[in-house]
Amino acid sequence: MFNQEKIEKNVGLLIVLTLLVVSVGGLLEIVPLFFQKSTTQAVEGVTPYDPVRLAGRDVYLREGCYNCHSQMIRPFRAETERYGHYSVAGEFVYDHPFQWGSKRTGPDLQRVGGRYSDEWQRIHLRNPRDVVPESNMPAFSWLEKTAAAQTVGKDIEAKMLALRKVGVPYTDAEIAGARQALEGKTEEDVLVAYLQGLGTALSNFK
Ligand code: HEC
Repeated sequence: MFNQEKIEKNVGLLIVLTLLVVSVGGLLEIVPLFFQKSTTQAVEGVTPYDPVRLAGRDVYLREGCYNCHSQMIRPFRAETERYGHYSVAGEFVYDHPFQWGSKRTGPDLQRVGGRYSDEWQRIHLRNPRDVVPESNMPAFSWLEKTAAAQTVGKDIEAKMLALRKVGVPYTDAEIAGARQALEGKTEEDVLVAYLQGLGTALSNFK
């Protein structure tokens, strides 16, 4: 018979048993999430990013916006009153990788879509101080000068194919038309399109 004292006095055994308990407990918590509808299926209204928003999302990643902005509204009153409905897992099924973030130097952006006009977003990106005088967000003034097709759009078909491999249901026609959708768009255009789509699918979710 094992007794407590024996385990506590044998460091090797204690480590092995601790790892065993933590692993089994962890698996029991994590594995079911791969099979639950609420975490694996998109909530109603959430669709895959179109090529323009997908390219905008890549600008967001490249510029490191996630270092200052989260996209994850916690289910607390202080958060939902400020940002809107709390985040639900089914909103992120097409996000690879998701942009939950962990630092809020600026506000959460998950429901920022439609909160401001496109024009406001453009002015704010070029120089945040023009619309929010006390802002310490950096200016991203070069985005309006670069064609998206030259940078984030360069391998848009390959990106969509890769996303399809991990379960995003892009059709062949959507992938074939991606390059055309980006034509004439600047990095600022695609980033604003991405921002304006954030969180809007859930506006009717109660
Ligand atoms: C160094 C930190 C920092 C970085 C990096 C940063 N931001 Fe911000 N952002 C802020 C702060 C602080 C605010 C609040 C003041 C303001 O509105 O400018 C803000 C506000 C915003 C807002 C308005 C949100 C609201 O609800 O009013 C948007 C949209 C936004 N940022 C988008 C972006 C995007 C897109 C990027 C990347 C291109 C980015 N930010 C990078 C700090 C940052």
